[in-house]
Order: sequence, then C-alpha cells, then structure tokens
Amino acid sequence: MSATEPRALSSQRSGPLIGRTRVPGDKSISHRALLLGALATGKTRIEGLLEAEDVLNTAGAVSALGAIARRTGSGWEVLGRGVGGLAEPSSPLDFGNSGTGVRLTMGAIAGHPMTVRLLGDASLSRRPMRRVLDPLQQMGLEVLEGGETLPLTIRGTADLVPIFYRLPVASAQIKSAVLIAGLHAAGETTVDTVATRDHTERMLRHFGARVRVERRGEREAITVGGDAELMGRDVVVPGDPSSAAFLAAAALIVPGSEVSIEGVLVNPTRAGFYQTLREMGGDVSLRNEREEGGEPVADIMVRSSRLSGVRVPAERAPSMIDEYPILAVVAAFADGVTRMEGLAELKVKESDRLGATAAGLAANGVATRVEGDCLIVSGQGMVRGGGKVATHMDHRIAMAFLTLGLASDRPVSVDDAGMIATSFPEFRELMTRLGAQFIEGAVR
Ligand code: S3P
Repeated sequence: MSATEPRALSSQRSGPLIGRTRVPGDKSISHRALLLGALATGKTRIEGLLEAEDVLNTAGAVSALGAIARRTGSGWEVLGRGVGGLAEPSSPLDFGNSGTGVRLTMGAIAGHPMTVRLLGDASLSRRPMRRVLDPLQQMGLEVLEGGETLPLTIRGTADLVPIFYRLPVASAQIKSAVLIAGLHAAGETTVDTVATRDHTERMLRHFGARVRVERRGEREAITVGGDAELMGRDVVVPGDPSSAAFLAAAALIVPGSEVSIEGVLVNPTRAGFYQTLREMGGDVSLRNEREEGGEPVADIMVRSSRLSGVRVPAERAPSMIDEYPILAVVAAFADGVTRMEGLAELKVKESDRLGATAAGLAANGVATRVEGDCLIVSGQGMVRGGGKVATHMDHRIAMAFLTLGLASDRPVSVDDAGMIATSFPEFRELMTRLGAQFIEGAVR
C-alpha cells in the first residue's frame, strides 16, 4: 500500500499559466465520509471522493473493519455497520502515509471490543501517536503493543467512558478521533480546543449525531452525544484547497498567468493561505460562492502579481497548517521578509516540514532562517533555482518545490515525486495542462 520507488522529477521556468481547472476532492472530507459512512446504518453515497493513496488506504481499512466501501459508476458508496457494529479485521490495517487515516480510525476502533494492529510507511511510523492515545486511553482504549509510534496494537471496548478533554495542541485529527470515539460512549464527550478544521463536526451533524459547539473566547468546546445512531447520507466532496494552493501559487509567481480553479472548498477553517496571499498583494478573488454538501465552495481566480513580504501570525496556523511549504515558496518571490510564526506542528507532519522547507529554499539560493518555531524567508522578487531538494517522503514538499522551479531562473529537482500520489495524483497533469513544464529525472 505504499507509494512507488523514488522517482526524481524537475520543473523549469514556464510561460504564463492560463486556464480553468478543477482539483480533486478534499482529503480531510474524503477520509471522514468513508469513516462516518462505515459507522452509519445504511448506504452513504459519496460524490467527488479523492482517489489518492491516503484515502484509498482508509477505504481499505473500513472495508477490513466490516463495512463495504466501493467505487460505483459515478462515485463511491459505503454500506455502513452502525455505531459499534464494526468487526475485528483478520489482518493488520496499513494506512501507508496517512496520519489522518490512522488517527481518525483509532477513534472508531476505540468503541469496539476488538484488537487491531495498525501499520504505516516509514514516514507515518515516525509520527507521534501518544497525542491520540492519551485521550482514547482515558476513555477506555487499551494499548497492547507500542505507544509512541506505529506499529501499534490497540484494543477497544464496548464500554467507553465519556470525557472532557482539553487539547494540548491545535489538532483537528486528535479532536476528530475523540469526537468519533465519543459517539460510542455512554454520555457526552467534550473537546476543548482552539478552532481547527471543522469538517468532523459538520459531517457528524449531517449524519444525524448530536453536536453542540460553545465558543469561549479564543477557544471552543465541542460536545458530541454518546450512544449515537448515524444514518447513511449523501456526501458531496468539494475540491481540496490544500491541493489548489499549488496551482494558485504557481499562477501568482509565473508572470502573465491567469488561472481559475473551480469548485474549491473555502471553509474559513481552511482559508488562511488565501487570506495571506491577498495580504501579500496577490490578485486572488472568489467567484460564484455557494454551499455544496454543507460546506462553502467557490471558484478561485488568481492572476500573477507583484508580492510583498508579510508577517503571518501564529493564530492563523491551524487554518493553513498544510500550506506553509508552498507559502514559503511564494514568499521567496515576494519583495521583502515574510515571517511565519508558531510552526511547531510542522515538525511532526509527513516530514519535518520546517527543516525540509528551509533546506529546500536554501538549496535554491533563497535566504531562509528558522528561529525557534518561526520560518523567515527573505524574498528578492526572483529565485536562482538549480537546487536538488530532499522530499523526505513528503508529498507537499515535492509539490512545493516543483512549483518553485516553474518561476526560478534554473530548473529545480525533487528526489521523489512518487509520494505526490498520496494526495494529488493529477498534480503534474493539471499543471502541465495550464502550461507548466516538467522534466523527467534530476537536472544537473
Ligand atoms: C487534518 C488535520 C491536520 C492536517 C492534516 C489533515 C485532518 O493535521 O495537517 O493534513 O484531516 O484532520 P493536525 O490536525 O494533526 O494538525
């Protein structure tokens, strides 16, 4: 279930990127649709599911847990087993590269008296799992093997205890795992957190769960009712703003570009990147704003622009946590310093993205500094390029630096473009259709 052999790829200075395009379905919403579909009674139909490795691994996991997740003519369907109705899988569940897949599934497993072994690829096996196990163990989950990282063997229970849990880090994954486990508990489970992406809350309501959100200053308390019954529903998955970010960034930095990305999720808990681009002077506008499947959606129009460095405050991090590598690339083409604050969580993503982004920029002649949890990029309006970037099994590092090469003086190479398939298999094809130029292999 892991990605293919490492495959180097380069990008080079390209003419204007022009055109209208769509991006594949949102990854976060896709995982949730499969999982909640599995916990619902009856059929869930999913339109626009992201068919990328991360999500396909979750589809495999829910099928191994006794639900049926399958492709139909026009989309996907899940035949659910109901809350508490999943079955013990006959072999370990392998989540490949996906932190969201494994962490959210742990929340579902917690409420079932079954033993499950969880596996991931080399990148996922380095990422912290204690942060999810802590609250789930308070609820009654047992950890039979491991604790800090995968592989893990866990045992759930039919008698989960509801908890009040104050999240120590801003993480939608931990929040979601606890809320999903809370569906099985006998009573109300509350997560107290700063705002992070709210797709789980929205979708839980859509499936019929009782969810309450109370705002308390900067924080919010999200409560889910236990002994829940979810009903199969239709889900429409909008375009992924984290994938669209690479297209938007390319259009901003390649002179003369004009690109419209249609049907993109513009949920405010995910929109920090686009807000920041506008603050930098980027010509980024939303057209045709509408609601689809309970989420706000719009067409995003981007024209290449003269950009200035800005300060990006720490409070914005949860709403653009996956976009810092590509924002740092955009910042390299701006005039002046961009200071991105509060990035501790970047160190525990698919790679240490703080280190990988800084190293990749430095390899391409961009003055970059890491100060504690801050990334500081000194933009010169142009980038020399010519660097070979180590992607450390990280799809977003690969896409960010291939985007950098489209506007650099010299081509930019990444050591492994294979991991892009975990989130955005169509990246190269969509970019090429807009006018981006890639070269097979590393350029010397
Ligand atoms: C995700 C939440 C974020 C994000 C990840 C997807 C989700 O992780 O980085 O790509 O779908 O809930 P954290 O919640 O751990 O920050």
